[in-house]
Amino acid sequence: MLRLNGMRPPLVAIKGSHTLTTYTMEYKIQTIGVLTSGGDAPGMNAAVRAVTRAALYNNIRVKAVYRGYKGLMDGEVAEFTTQNVSGIIQRGGTILKSARSEEFKTPEGRKRAYDTIVREQIDALIVIGGDGTFTGGRVFAQEYNIPVIGIPGTIDNDLWGTDATIGYDTALNTIVDCVDKLRDTATSHERVFLVEVMGRDAGFLTLNAAIAAGAEAAVIPERATVAEQIETAIGQGRRKSKNSSIVLVQEHAVEGGALAVQQEIEKTHPEYNVRTTILGHLQRGGRPSAKDRILASRMGCAAIQALLDEQRSIMVGIQNDEIVYVPLTKAIRTKKDIKADTWHAMQILCI
Ligand code: F6P
Repeated sequence: MLRLNGMRPPLVAIKGSHTLTTYTMEYKIQTIGVLTSGGDAPGMNAAVRAVTRAALYNNIRVKAVYRGYKGLMDGEVAEFTTQNVSGIIQRGGTILKSARSEEFKTPEGRKRAYDTIVREQIDALIVIGGDGTFTGGRVFAQEYNIPVIGIPGTIDNDLWGTDATIGYDTALNTIVDCVDKLRDTATSHERVFLVEVMGRDAGFLTLNAAIAAGAEAAVIPERATVAEQIETAIGQGRRKSKNSSIVLVQEHAVEGGALAVQQEIEKTHPEYNVRTTILGHLQRGGRPSAKDRILASRMGCAAIQALLDEQRSIMVGIQNDEIVYVPLTKAIRTKKDIKADTWHAMQILCI
């Protein structure tokens, strides 16, 4: 834990407390832990690399934690040098592996994780992931008074307080590539193609990929009813005397996803030849785009700077190309809405 003049400070029982003792100036962070958790995202490796190198640059030791919070509970920890993160910036996935842990949601699980923190003499934790990762990190930080810094790594781009999350740009490009290819068949066979896109509860990937791919419609949870959106899609195709159309459907916009939408269209418009493609985990893989690599590199360095700035329980974000620190609570609890002009542009451009 944080050491005062090389000595361990008293462990304060702060469970459930919101009035934390703030260890500030006197305590020097000597060792950080870094983990990736939740769904993997392209660019996570670039973030691990940046965190590691920025820490070492500042004479801070790095303990890499494998398999997210599960590995933290199980003590799967290895010390990293700069060589451990060589040759990974271009790789998708995460060299640290990832997991979703139910056990970490329990006080007993977090106690096991804390035992690892003490054993490994980790003073602060950097967690790379999305909403679930930050939720766990925030509770852990409160319970055990340990600085936790979040780096947003998720293809969903659904975290409030940051214009972009690591992996979003790459996933967007993957989706657009796939839709471009599907359009060839849609046009040749005069079909309606429904393309199911990931995003958890958010429509950022769906809407922006729809704009970039020139789709006829985007069905997203944040806007108009599914029925309305489908009518728009079919109507636009007809108005343009097109017998083919591409409709991007956010995975949770309708129960049953794009296949349920297909059934609905086949019922109401039997004249259409409909096919559904579920892009699935293809969207999470692949080499990160240059944009994601740069974002991850900046955010990784900023996470270490945040610790040097004595920040805790914050997410590193990017707004108008400037690095910002956002309280984890706000990042998790505030709903990030899609931009009105983006939705409007979609409506204009699909006529
Ligand atoms: O959060 C990333 C994400 O890919 C979501 O878009 C999707 O809903 C979910 O993870 C899928 O999770 P899993 O890989 O556990 O099936």
